[in-house]
Amino acid sequence: MRKPLVAGNWKMNGTRASLNEIVEMGKAYSLALRGKVDMLIAPPSTLLYTASAVALGTGIAIGAQDCHAGAAGAHTGDLAASQLFDVGASAVIVGHSERRADHGETDTQVKAKAEAVIAQGMVAIICVGETKAQREAGKALAVVGKQVKGSIPAGVSADQVVIAYEPVWAIGTGLTPTLADIAEVHADIRKTIARLLGKETAAKMRILYGGSVKPNNAKDILGLADVDGALVGGASLKASDFMGIVEAA
Ligand code: 13P
Repeated sequence: MRKPLVAGNWKMNGTRASLNEIVEMGKAYSLALRGKVDMLIAPPSTLLYTASAVALGTGIAIGAQDCHAGAAGAHTGDLAASQLFDVGASAVIVGHSERRADHGETDTQVKAKAEAVIAQGMVAIICVGETKAQREAGKALAVVGKQVKGSIPAGVSADQVVIAYEPVWAIGTGLTPTLADIAEVHADIRKTIARLLGKETAAKMRILYGGSVKPNNAKDILGLADVDGALVGGASLKASDFMGIVEAA
């Protein structure tokens, strides 16, 4: 009942030449695939407008990687949810661990950003995940549970939010948790969502896994019961790699 979502986060990578990858992805994203799996690319903000134009008619959704919580005003260098929507974004990633680390974003700020995204009628892809030290200390579930509680706005519906579980130590390292560990965290996140938003919403909300997802490990990870897709970094930059993951989903 949950349609998988495979989302690509290009991070601070890509120039206009990279748009050809979206063209290639669009060609490979057949009607049959579109019926089975949703697909989204989050390019850097500089490419949002042209990426939206290139993706038009392909079924590929375009997302942004961050936004400001405010509506408009004196915030040099920031972008409001309404501006991202204006150039074709239908979703925004918020609370990615790189933003939590590089810009000191807190759960409270992530929640405010998610609220701004949802108020604009877009989907908030809220990222959570533990560090290596936290996992080794046996605190992964507690850390992730606290982030989920602190970052999801009150009263949201299952189509307004996607959760992405991305262990910090698995991002860009080629390391992944065991399948049992991924399954445990995802099941626990769904329990937390049920407590916050009710069982029905929890059963419908998509929970993605992210962190070194590649074409060769996607099938096993995406085959887990509570894993409803992937948030992909490095392997989303090339159409051939990314479509391998989409097909696995
Ligand atoms: P990698 O797939 O490169 O590990 O990145 C994952 C990620 O951070 C996606 O948001």
